[in-house]
Amino acid sequence: MKAKILVTGGTGYIGSHTVVELQNSDYEVVIVDNLSNSNAEVVDGIEKITGIRPAFQQVDCRDKEALAGVFNRYPGIKGIIHFAASKAVGESVQQPLLYYRNNIVSLLNLLEAMPEYQVEGLVFSSSCTVYGQPDRLPVDETAPILPATSPYGNTKQVDEEIIRDAIHAGAPYKSIILRYFNPIGAHPTAEIGELPNGVPQNLIPFLTQTAAGIRKELSVFGNDYHTPDGSCIRDYINVVDLAKAHVVAVERMLNNPSNARLEYFNLGTGRGLSVLELIHTFEETTGVKVPHKIVGRREGDIEQIWADPRYANEVLGWTAVETLEDTLQSAWKWQLKLGE
Ligand code: UD1
Repeated sequence: MKAKILVTGGTGYIGSHTVVELQNSDYEVVIVDNLSNSNAEVVDGIEKITGIRPAFQQVDCRDKEALAGVFNRYPGIKGIIHFAASKAVGESVQQPLLYYRNNIVSLLNLLEAMPEYQVEGLVFSSSCTVYGQPDRLPVDETAPILPATSPYGNTKQVDEEIIRDAIHAGAPYKSIILRYFNPIGAHPTAEIGELPNGVPQNLIPFLTQTAAGIRKELSVFGNDYHTPDGSCIRDYINVVDLAKAHVVAVERMLNNPSNARLEYFNLGTGRGLSVLELIHTFEETTGVKVPHKIVGRREGDIEQIWADPRYANEVLGWTAVETLEDTLQSAWKWQLKLGE
């Protein structure tokens, strides 16, 4: 058995897939999650896939005492992967204080606890949103950080700065900041996947619910962008590929003798895809039609962004390998499972 890793938000979408990959790589996992956007049955799904039931505590990372209870109950936690955060861009505009408290206080609590419990490193979930609309594409890690367009985006920028400042001030831990592009798909077993609350805001859950007949039609937000077909372009990355990058990051953070105390990696495929291309690929791959119509632009959307993932490829020795077709199939299989 390798090191003990605390995964905050471990029953969430990316968190649960990461717990599976950590356990498959022999790490011992302790999950904390307040279940605000997930449910405890996810732990069953993780156990079905891996044969191992991770420790799970229903704890809110804003609650410092409850977090201390977790560190005391599971002594010897070596690393943390911090997923627990709110992530709906629109909601963050409506309820900024909720976002600041949730996404910032949780991080502060963890960073303050780390020296006390000799935790050696933190992997942090960040987002390509920190780049805004980059001047040059694909975007690499040296691109400037642009002013955030939502409180959600701002929390990711501020969190990155908090980690940077703490490490510059000599904090006794390392950190790896992972900037995700657009994670999609589900585990190939369909035991875990994305579980959006209410009407999905993100493209893929809305698309698969429309394909399943739960929603009447998908709105494509704009076809007058300066892109080949006029719809926005994103870098869609398979969630299992993304999860595997976290295992490599933990490995590097805890075992790499290098002096790097803080590192940043873009996690994407390097391939930009438009909304319309994605819909057509889904239809061709699954044979299921997705009724859709073009509507106006969505406020705050970036026109186009995709990753230059070469730094992660070279330094982490990690590359996204799943095909778009298999990824969309996995999303569809998961949607069908949810409907059973
Ligand atoms: C957004 C955030 C990202 C965050 C992620 C988490 C920005 C710029 N991006 O990603 O930082 O990590 O959410 O939730 O703040 N679309 C439609 N119809 C729909 C839904 C989406 O056409 O019903 C389009 C969008 O315009 C966009 C693409 O699909 O071009 C992807 O949208 P979405 O899945 O919401 O992700 P992002 O906005 O890229």
